[in-house]
Amino acid sequence: SQTQNSPKFSTDLFQGFWHRPSLIPNIIAFQKHFQAHDNDIVIASKPKSGTTWLKSLVFTIVNRTRYSLSNTPLNTSNPHDLVPCFEYDLYKNQVPNNLTSISTPRLFSTHIPYSSLPESIKLSDCRIVYIARNPFDVIVSLWHFLKLPKPITLEECYEMFCRGEEPFGPYWDHVLEYWKESLERPNKVLFIKYEDMKEDPNSIIKNLADFIGFPISMEEEEMGIIEDILELCSLENLKNLKVNKEGKNRYSTRENKTYFRKGEVGDYVNYFSPSSIQRFSKIIEEKLGGSGLTFNMSY
Ligand code: A3P
Repeated sequence: SQTQNSPKFSTDLFQGFWHRPSLIPNIIAFQKHFQAHDNDIVIASKPKSGTTWLKSLVFTIVNRTRYSLSNTPLNTSNPHDLVPCFEYDLYKNQVPNNLTSISTPRLFSTHIPYSSLPESIKLSDCRIVYIARNPFDVIVSLWHFLKLPKPITLEECYEMFCRGEEPFGPYWDHVLEYWKESLERPNKVLFIKYEDMKEDPNSIIKNLADFIGFPISMEEEEMGIIEDILELCSLENLKNLKVNKEGKNRYSTRENKTYFRKGEVGDYVNYFSPSSIQRFSKIIEEKLGGSGLTFNMSY
């Protein structure tokens, strides 16, 4: 395996993607031991693409008859504590033995690329919802997130992305693997863009609910359930919750509000010079060109 060491951040190349070295044993254990169930729902993403938002939405849609929206665990827990991540939470230095006792459908998440997912996820009927975000906003969002524990500069973060050596990168290979799978197997992988969620959340929610097998009925729609779900899962609402920190996940060690920053499309223009934008745009054009995958950032 290859290692790249930016001054403050090291990643190793594993199965064609760059990962923090400490995560690689977890990924291997996950690949070896996880047994998917046909009704599992897996949320997949590149970090900082809207994972937290999607987790809160999927959790709420699936559990809307079990909990009233005023009494949902989402009011007291960070969404990451409700939808655990395979490589960060579940397979962290252990093989979990209690996954079969989780109530169904089981909700999980991962940042692992499609090609590295366990065969049982690929071969079972479980569904994958992937959220992608334009890479410029991902870089800025990641930098804000990383710089809290690590003194990494925006330039270092940007260069890491240009080289494709950021965690779970290269960005373009990650999004393209899920994008292609969603085109080939639309019943298996739903590909959502953060920008579309911002622009037209109502239709995305309806489509998402259909895909995960919890469709929203006409009656529910007339009663305003979609608006209620969106309000509950809005950045402002989630950011200001007093969540309990008793969960065992890594998220419990961070301040809840660090998961909810600005939530805007196109914030990157406030951070990158025109020449940096041009340089990275060229790379992205080369890598995504011809795939049909584009991001609408102009509204
Ligand atoms: P910004 O840093 O640009 O604000 P992830 O959840 O994958 O880590 O992605 C984090 C990004 O999603 C952050 O973007 C965060 O603010 C934004 N986000 C989190 N919750 C959100 C919500 N409920 N609605 C919209 N955006 C949200």
